[in-house]
Amino acid sequence: MTVQAADRDDDLDCPEKNNAQIIDRSLIIVSNRAPMSLSRDESGQITFQRGSGGLVTALMGLVQNIDASWIAAAESDVEREWHYGRVSLLDEEHTIQLRFIRPGEEEYDRYYNQISNPLIWFLQHSMWDVVTSPTITAETWAAWEQGYVPVNRQFAEAVAEQIKQSRQRTLVMFQDYHLYLAPRVLRQILGPQRMQNHILTHFVHIPWPGSEDWGILPPGMRQAILEGLCANDVVGFQTREDALNFIRSVESHLPRSHVNFSRGRIWYRNHATYVRDFPISIDVDALKQLALSERVASHRQQLEDFVQGRQLIVRIDRTEPSKNIARGFQAYESMLEMYPEHCGSVQFVAILVPSRLKVEEYQSYLDDLMAAAGRVNARFGTSDWEPVRVLLGEDYDRAIAALQLYDVLLVNAIADGMNLVAKEGPVVNQRDGVLILSERAGARQQMEPGATIISPCDVFGTANALHQALIMPAEIRRERALRLRKIVEEADVNDWFCEQLSTISQLFG
Ligand code: G6P
Repeated sequence: MTVQAADRDDDLDCPEKNNAQIIDRSLIIVSNRAPMSLSRDESGQITFQRGSGGLVTALMGLVQNIDASWIAAAESDVEREWHYGRVSLLDEEHTIQLRFIRPGEEEYDRYYNQISNPLIWFLQHSMWDVVTSPTITAETWAAWEQGYVPVNRQFAEAVAEQIKQSRQRTLVMFQDYHLYLAPRVLRQILGPQRMQNHILTHFVHIPWPGSEDWGILPPGMRQAILEGLCANDVVGFQTREDALNFIRSVESHLPRSHVNFSRGRIWYRNHATYVRDFPISIDVDALKQLALSERVASHRQQLEDFVQGRQLIVRIDRTEPSKNIARGFQAYESMLEMYPEHCGSVQFVAILVPSRLKVEEYQSYLDDLMAAAGRVNARFGTSDWEPVRVLLGEDYDRAIAALQLYDVLLVNAIADGMNLVAKEGPVVNQRDGVLILSERAGARQQMEPGATIISPCDVFGTANALHQALIMPAEIRRERALRLRKIVEEADVNDWFCEQLSTISQLFG
């Protein structure tokens, strides 16, 4: 499994300037979630369904074109039984080796539902209210020691096995916050001699907060996380700020480390880690293709019938506390109060995908945001106008249809690694819609020139931004919409991947 320049040149679609970067190594992608899920049909045959979600969507755009292997955690009995094999992503020429690690049910619950999502996710999205949370109890420590640590070890062991089988120089690309400990364990398993042939990278898809936030985590946990990440050769973040925050966190919390901010480099245990930002993006061509489909057209028609010519505000999110959905409804409510001329002539459609409902905070957040939407409707609704319509459920076609129709797209996350909706919207929108974007979404770094930037806790400011967007003159809307589309089209998901390969090739040859 070697990534060959000759095989990949056309497919990967790297820009001219980056062609030299294609490197002659086997590629192993490691992520918690697999790029596809397996199930059995009525006849007992195993079927493969392509997954969704930011991470999977982003990576699918590139592994369709290269020969690679992917290691992920099994999520069902079928996946546990199947264990590993070659799978086709597109056709027979586009296959990958897929391997599932198989943690025990309780072990996985501790790793995913107790450490990765409530603890690490909340920390990295600055969602703690330290007066009350987090409370790190014996149970949390048990979840760490009997969940996060062993599952990371299993990932490292699976990578080591894959490397031994391939007997080639390898590029291992770890993804995200579930796997912070795995790179160091992998180095320990293979030993320094053997590791010389392999490059480890880790891409952190979510925000990296300042070192003070990491100070709240007990030293035993935060040092293990930082040591784990410093076992990589390259650590990538969504924004420059995230990358700087990481170097600052290492400087503050990892004794005997040496950091160099201007070179973006950390020395720790006689090993250098390069820290860079690689803003992720979307598969622009695939999205445009989908936007032309009949299925999307039929949803568009239904939405148009519902909206009845009113101006349309759209938001599309997982039901996720960091997305700040309840404050978004509150801002809309304030706008209707401050600018009553919009009553009856605007429609807010919130398309929400239920997420991580086994984590308590997510369940109660879903209740909170439904109550917030209900309040707006009770206060302002009339017999022929429902100010907010919440559409719950996963339907990507419907989401794309809504993105085609928005006059205003609201992205007001408390913190967000990138936010791919903010990139998808401008590519498919047909109305020169206005993007209102949180200053704390990673997308801001690139999209600021064409977006209205808001502060996510500032409900008053967001209400005013909604009003300004609704009354914005057509020519300004057009100019901004064009600018946003160009920004996204010029750097899609292939560029994200190529930038990483290019950096690796510059650093290590
Ligand atoms: C979001 C984040 C990704 C993360 C993913 C996990 O999409 O942006 O960084 O990997 O959530 O989602 P899951 O549904 O697998 O918990």
